[in-house]
Amino acid sequence: MSTYLVTGGAGFIGSNYIRYMLKKYDDIRIINLDKLTYAGNPDNLKEIEDDPRYSFVKGDICDEELVNSLVPEADYIINFAAESHVDRSIGQPDDFIRTDVFGTFVLLEAARRHGSKLFVQISTDEVYGSTEDGSFKEDDPLMPSSPYSASKAGADRLAYSYFVTYDVPVIITRCSNNFGPRQFPEKLIPLFVTNALEDKPLPIYGDGMNVRDWIYVDDHCDAIDFLTQKGTHGEVYNIGGGNERTNLFITELILSTLGKPRSLMTHVEDRLGHDRRYSVDCSKINAMGWQPKHAFEAAMEETINWYVQNRWWWEKLKSGEYLEYYRQNYKNLE
Ligand code: NAD
Ligand code: DAU
Repeated sequence: MSTYLVTGGAGFIGSNYIRYMLKKYDDIRIINLDKLTYAGNPDNLKEIEDDPRYSFVKGDICDEELVNSLVPEADYIINFAAESHVDRSIGQPDDFIRTDVFGTFVLLEAARRHGSKLFVQISTDEVYGSTEDGSFKEDDPLMPSSPYSASKAGADRLAYSYFVTYDVPVIITRCSNNFGPRQFPEKLIPLFVTNALEDKPLPIYGDGMNVRDWIYVDDHCDAIDFLTQKGTHGEVYNIGGGNERTNLFITELILSTLGKPRSLMTHVEDRLGHDRRYSVDCSKINAMGWQPKHAFEAAMEETINWYVQNRWWWEKLKSGEYLEYYRQNYKNLE
């Protein structure tokens, strides 16, 4: 029986990963350490709350004492915990530096002290920065351009340094833009789907011609599991969906799927330092035998339908009443 310490497991990708792992394996134990920031949502794990293989600890990855009490129980540490939204990092970078860099340091120190079997650092393709042409390979220079991506780059290289200096078994993943159920409605796809459902404007930054590579969240979770089993310590792995699309394309797809008018498209002031295009070369993980399994169009349709059918999940997040809701429903978590 292997034990996984998953940090940030109440967020979008972390909660999908926990669901994915519990569905795939009978003989595992998962401890979810999450601070429950605005992005951490107990509703994301409602159906598995009572699963005996799963336990939840409300806490901060920067809390050294707490982290050192949990790490000895774990074979694998999968570090999803982060402040993850670029716009917020532009407005207020403090928590990004604290959680993404210092929090990762606290976890790495604990892994070193307790001799963990594997530390998987969930990094991002944003650490390479923007490129008009070609695709980044794992050994290309890092040129992060937002406080978010710079803090993720710091954590990414810190994890590598713990492998080189202290022999901590580390694997670093750099994935492209995820989409799927339970993504906080501040990110492009859930924001635009839910705004369209409410007949509100869809705020397109600048000319809308920025390009992202989209991957269905289950494929990201699958790749993390694949690398946990088959990755080489000290290595970096790009993960991508192979679906580069402009923001305008995504916007039009959402509107046409929902049968909503193009008049909802509203061009607004551009994001400061807005990266034009992200693109990762995934030949390294592909050569090991991993490929994404979901086709973009079908997964987008499924995702849009999920938000159509689960208004209960996102309406309270958008109304701002969610903090009160959590206080009432999850008193034990306060
Ligand atoms: P998210 O914002 O939805 O979730 C982050 C989770 O971390 C939340 O549950 C939050 O409560 C928790 N958290 C934040 N600070 C914490 C702290 N100090 N201690 C403990 N928990 C804390 O983010 P996401 O989109 O699910 O991303 C998860 C990870 O994947 C992040 O590390 C992100 O950088 C990375 N990533 C995301 C994408 C993407 O497209 N969303 C792509 C590549 C990599
Ligand atoms: O590439 C991986 C990264 O993808 C992750 O590391 C980040 O955690 C994740 O948030 C995401 O970053 P992006 O900045 O690419 O995602 P976001 O959904 O914020 O924006 C996607 C694109 O859509 C980007 O070009 C900005 C644009 N956008 C976004 C919002 C929220 C708009 O035009 N309008 C909007 O309202």
